[in-house]
This record gives sequence, structure tokens and C-alpha cells, in this order.
Amino acid sequence: MVLGQVDGEDAVLVRSGDECFAVGANCTHYHGALSQGLVVGDTLRCPLHHACFSLRTGEALRAPALDPIPRWRVEIVGEKVFVRERLAYPGREHLVSSAVGQSVPASVVIIGGGAAGLGAADMLRRQGYDGSLTMISADDWPPYDRPNLSKDFLVGNAPDEWMRLRLPEFYGEQKIDLVLNSRVSALDIPRKRVLLENGQTYGFEALLIATGAEAVRLKIEGATDSQIHYLRTFADARAIVAKAASAKSVAVVGASFIGLEVAASLRTLGIAVNVIAPESQPLERVMGPEVGRMVRGLHEAHGVVFHLGETVRNINPTTLTLSGGATLEVDFVVLGVGVRPSLTLAEQAALATDRGIVVNEYLETSAPGVFAAGDVARWPDPHSGEIIRVEHWVVAERQGQVAAKNILGYRERFDAVPFFWSQHYDVAINYVGHAERWDSVEIDGDLNSRNCAVFYKRAGRTLAVATISRDLQSLQAEAAMEARIPV
Ligand SMILES: Cc1cc2nc3c(=O)[nH]c(=O)nc-3n(C[C@H](O)[C@H](O)[C@H](O)COP(=O)(O)OP(=O)(O)OC[C@H]3O[C@@H](n4cnc5c(N)ncnc54)[C@H](O)[C@@H]3O)c2cc1C
Ligand code: FES
Repeated sequence: MVLGQVDGEDAVLVRSGDECFAVGANCTHYHGALSQGLVVGDTLRCPLHHACFSLRTGEALRAPALDPIPRWRVEIVGEKVFVRERLAYPGREHLVSSAVGQSVPASVVIIGGGAAGLGAADMLRRQGYDGSLTMISADDWPPYDRPNLSKDFLVGNAPDEWMRLRLPEFYGEQKIDLVLNSRVSALDIPRKRVLLENGQTYGFEALLIATGAEAVRLKIEGATDSQIHYLRTFADARAIVAKAASAKSVAVVGASFIGLEVAASLRTLGIAVNVIAPESQPLERVMGPEVGRMVRGLHEAHGVVFHLGETVRNINPTTLTLSGGATLEVDFVVLGVGVRPSLTLAEQAALATDRGIVVNEYLETSAPGVFAAGDVARWPDPHSGEIIRVEHWVVAERQGQVAAKNILGYRERFDAVPFFWSQHYDVAINYVGHAERWDSVEIDGDLNSRNCAVFYKRAGRTLAVATISRDLQSLQAEAAMEARIPV
């Protein structure tokens, strides 16, 4: 790839096989440098969070980017390549699924205004669907950047406007009826309608359940409601920001990704942070003890104090007592002890569930025409060969996108390789694949200098790869897994 400028705009000239393409150099998600990404066939992948763009059309084929990148006409004359005028984005005039010979549903209802819900609504309109489209969300804000709640937003580096996945006018322009602050209380699948807590009902021909997950609640003896915080919603994040403004010391219960990201953000604000967790190393269950040790060292170097192998005995009134008897003075507590999928609606409607809503490879539930996507869905992952449920932003958005296409009759399998990232201070961990159990870990590079790839293997086969400062290697591992080439 060659990085340059066309008419003052950053562009990359890409060769793929015999063809050359000129496209914008910045990812439309968080402006990742696409010149440092990976070309796979006629797609260009972003090194930061693995968005995938078509080199032919500029379209953001896969989330987390939603908007296309610019592209220019390329002409090859002899041995020279000329980048000519900018090309318009080829919008879709027609409903593509009419080409598939399917009748499309007259109305689609999406329950959930998170990653999967927005990914689906966006894709339905992108595909030219012009039927009635309603998105019902219990949230008080239009779809927002949930991963940022524990990162830049908590530190104060991301104003509210940056948190929107789409501008407010998008919903009107795209004729998406966005119903906020509204909770669906029941599904009536035989009569094809959803019932809201406020008594309203919405009929549907196709339904997507994208209700995500909710934070696991924990009772702490002696704690008042105002001392305990969870972090799932924008409202939760705002409440923590408000408290943090005058706090000196905070306890984070749980050494999960979210708990540790909160710890990092609060440390960046200069607040004393104690992390309390029963395990012996943070993130051990997901990433193993080696990465756990490194992450712990990183946080300790920033002043976080860990109380591992401990739980909270009680709080009285601001003195927190640990199970081992030690005491800490805290202004408030953030509980990051995991989430559970929001299954109630599906269970009440007698959809097949198994620690998640069970869906097939097309993300369709046990009821025809009813789809599920995101944190709530358990799907057959062709890469691990297991039926899995994950809590990854990019997976949720991509599942929403694929569910949308299947609502329109495409019969597209969801076969994306799972991917997530996590940010701790200036260290980003990228993870591709899925390994719930492994029998060996191989480390290429050096964990302590934070430049490495960690391979999680079972019976000699790499199931997942975690990387630090090796974004290209992460993309390469993803592409190899997609192509079923041993990593
Ligand atoms: C603080 C934080 C940081 C994170 N950081 C990362 C990260 O760095 N990388 C990563 O890969 N993942 C991260 N995640 C996980 C990621 O955000 C989730 O995997 C993703 O949001 C799941 O998307 P979803 O659409 O399935 O659910 P959600 O985004 O949770 O959306 C669910 C939606 O459903 C609505 N809803 C639920 N029940 C009802 C109902 N009955 N009626 C109406 N609406 C309902 C909710 O209000 C919400 O709008 C993070 C999560 C959190 C909380
Ligand atoms: S910046 Fe490109 S995927 Fe996030």
C-alpha cells in the first residue's frame, strides 16, 4: 500500500492481484490508519478494531465502521498508475433481496437500541429496505458507543456528541421509528406483536431481539444504594462521572475487562483505586495467568492496589471490610462482576434458550421470522465448532448486520471470527477467535515489553490469538481463521 494525498485528502493506493484501487486512508470508525491494515482479496481491514471495507465500492462491509470510505478512479497507463477523479458511493436504489426472489416483510421491529439493534437497522436501510422499521429501546439515549463508557468517556476525553453511533437526524432521514425509554414487557409471537410496559403494542412481520445483557447485581452488606455503581448504560456512566468528580478513593469489585478499564480511567483521574476479586490473577479465565500477570503489573505500575483472593465482607458507613479482615476507606464502589443475557422476553415467549437465545447459523431463533443477535444470542460458531455466546461489541454489530440481511431473505451465514479489544491506559489488547478451554499457550514476543502475540491452543490447533502492539498480526490471524488456514 502507498499512502499519499489526492486533492488534499489522505488516500491509500492499494494493489490487489492485477488491480489497483485508491481509497480513503482513514477508517470511518475511530480514524484508524488503513495504510497499516491488511488487504484480503478486494477488502481492506482496519488495524485497530478490524472494520472491513470494500476496495471496489468503499462500503463498510463489516462493523465497527458503518460509513463508507471515499474512493477514486484509478487508471493504469503503461507502468504508471494514475489516481483520477473521486467516485460517488454507489447507493442502493433497489431492494437487493428482490433479486433473491423473496418477499420482504412489510414491517420490522427491533427490540434493543444497542450495537446489534443499530447494526441491523442501519443495514436494513442500507440494503434498500423501505418498509416500516421500529427500534424500541429501554435506554434513554439513541444508540451510543458503549465500549467508550469505561474508557475516554469516563476520563472526560469524549464529550456526549462523540458517543452517538449516528447523528440525531439519521433516524428521521432513514425513517427509523426510534422509541426510547420504553421497555418491551412481552412478545406475542403467534399474533406477531410486541407489548410495551406502557401498554402500547407494535405489530411486526419480522422481529429482531437484540436485548443485550445486564450487569449481575451483588448485595453488599451495609452498603447504601448510592454507594454502589454498575456500568452498563450511558446513565450508569454519567452517574460514575458525577461521583468521581469529588471522590478520592474507589473500590472496584471484579477484575473483569470492564472493572479494570474503570480502574484505569479512575487512576487517570488521580483517584485511588483498590481492585477486589476472588481470582488469583485478573482476566485469568479468559486470557490465562501469563496475560493476567502482565495486566496486573501494568495496573500496579499506575498505582492500582489489588486484593486478589478476596471478597467484600461489608461496608460501614464508608469503611469497606474485606473477607480477610483488612479495611479500606472508599467514597463509592463499582461492581464489575459480569453480565447475564437479557432473556426474560424470549423465555416467556417459549423460544429455545440455553444461557442465551439459541439461534441457527442464520441467527434465526426457534420461531421462524424471529431473529436474535448480540450479547443475548448463542450461535453455532464454525471456527471453534462450538455453540457460543460472547460479549463483544464488534460481534454484536456484525450479527445485527447479518440478521438484517437474513430478514430480507439472503440466507447469509454468520461466520465472522469473533473479535474484541480492551484498552488499559495506553495498552490495547486485541483478541481474535474463541478459546473457552486450551491446553497450551505460546507466546511470540515479549509480554513484559508489551509487544507480543499469545496463541491459545487445543490439541495443537490455535483457537484464539491475543496481541499487544501487533495489530497486523491480529488481522492476519483473523484472515487465516476465516480461510480455515492453521494459525
Ligand atoms: C462499559 C463497557 C465497556 C465495554 N467495552 C468493550 C470493548 O472494549 N470491546 C468489546 O468488544 N466489547 C466491549 N463491551 C461489550 C459490548 O458493549 C457489548 O458486547 C455490546 O454492547 C452488545 O451489544 P448488544 O446490542 O447485544 O447489547 P447492548 O449494547 O447492551 O444493547 C441492548 C439494548 O437492548 C435494550 N433492551 C434490553 N431489554 C429491553 C427490553 N425489554 N425492551 C426494550 N429494550 C431493551 C437496552 O436498553 C439496550 O438498548 C463493553 C461493555 C460495557 C458495558
Ligand atoms: S478505527 Fe477502524 S475499526 Fe476502529
